[in-house]
Amino acid sequence: MTTHFDDWDLSSSVATEPRKPASSSPSGASASGGVAAINVSDKRIVNGKGDINQLAPFKYPWAWEFFLKGNRNHWTPLEINMAQDVHDYHHKLTAAERHIFENVLAYLTTSDILAMRNIGLAVMEKMSAPELQIYQARQVYEEALHTWTYQHCIESIGLDQTEVYNRYRVVPEIHGKIALANRRLDKVLRSDFDLTDRANLHEFALSYFFFAVIFEGCWFYNGFTPIFALQRRGLMKGTAEQLQYIMRDEVLHCAFGIRVVRELLKEENLTLEPQALRTLWDEAEAAERAYARYILRDSVLGYNADLHMQQFRFIANRRARQVGVDEPFPGAENALPWLDEQANLRKEKNFFETRVTEYQTGGALQWD
Ligand SMILES: [Fe+2]
Ligand SMILES: [Fe+2]
Repeated sequence: MTTHFDDWDLSSSVATEPRKPASSSPSGASASGGVAAINVSDKRIVNGKGDINQLAPFKYPWAWEFFLKGNRNHWTPLEINMAQDVHDYHHKLTAAERHIFENVLAYLTTSDILAMRNIGLAVMEKMSAPELQIYQARQVYEEALHTWTYQHCIESIGLDQTEVYNRYRVVPEIHGKIALANRRLDKVLRSDFDLTDRANLHEFALSYFFFAVIFEGCWFYNGFTPIFALQRRGLMKGTAEQLQYIMRDEVLHCAFGIRVVRELLKEENLTLEPQALRTLWDEAEAAERAYARYILRDSVLGYNADLHMQQFRFIANRRARQVGVDEPFPGAENALPWLDEQANLRKEKNFFETRVTEYQTGGALQWD
């Protein structure tokens, strides 16, 4: 049976309700200079009044569970053998396939630095419950690990790092996605961005929606597929294995971010304005289409720009359902049903014959 690992149900394991309310500990300052015990109801996603340094009582136990799950997927890029990739790149890939490979890495590596900075500098400091911040601290580390992974692939294969790293600046179709992300995220990077202002709060929710749902949930989730398409033909399997580990992190990042958006909207009695969402989807689709036409300007066996865009629209609808907003592209079909398999590294899914399915940390790779 096909496991749609990524089509998670937010009412299941990670969506548990708070275990119990705050205890009735003594309140009020004591004679020795203590302060009042924390009340769980003071905790909020943003603008909370609880003690940011005190983990329990949990108001968001699902966030702690994300932290525990994140720790079950750990590797370093040095553990994966890249020798065959060096041979494949120089002796087996066609010019079109090398173009795909290099530009996907060029896009991803810059995107992951942007992701690290957005979570670490813009989002994390605005979260006012420690269980949320702790998972985001893990996420910041993971984004740095992803950057190392891409750099390791680029260096192992012997690509010109300066040239590859500059592509996001000089290639308009790659720059377009990064520029859109910067425009959507930059405003909330300011530490003085006042979230008690309702318009700012809506802006923040929309910005986080863009980041979790589109940037991580669609662009990243679907961003690995050109290289997975090579892997399915037995090419660049080391790089693909590295990307499978990254993809597992990204699935959790997206799931966590969507959960935060849902909780934030409920807690703040906020609704994302439909026209603003429409604009967001349309901009994201246009940027992705330009990118897909560039990296896939020549089709390769089993993959082309049309398939990439069909899959983008299909995944976008899934993400919209997970947030609880209207599907942006009704009727989009699942053009690449094998993509969801890539999010799941279980042993029985060893159909690409890579080592990744046999490598586990803590024997704890149960994700659904
Ligand atoms: Fe990442
Ligand atoms: Fe991420």
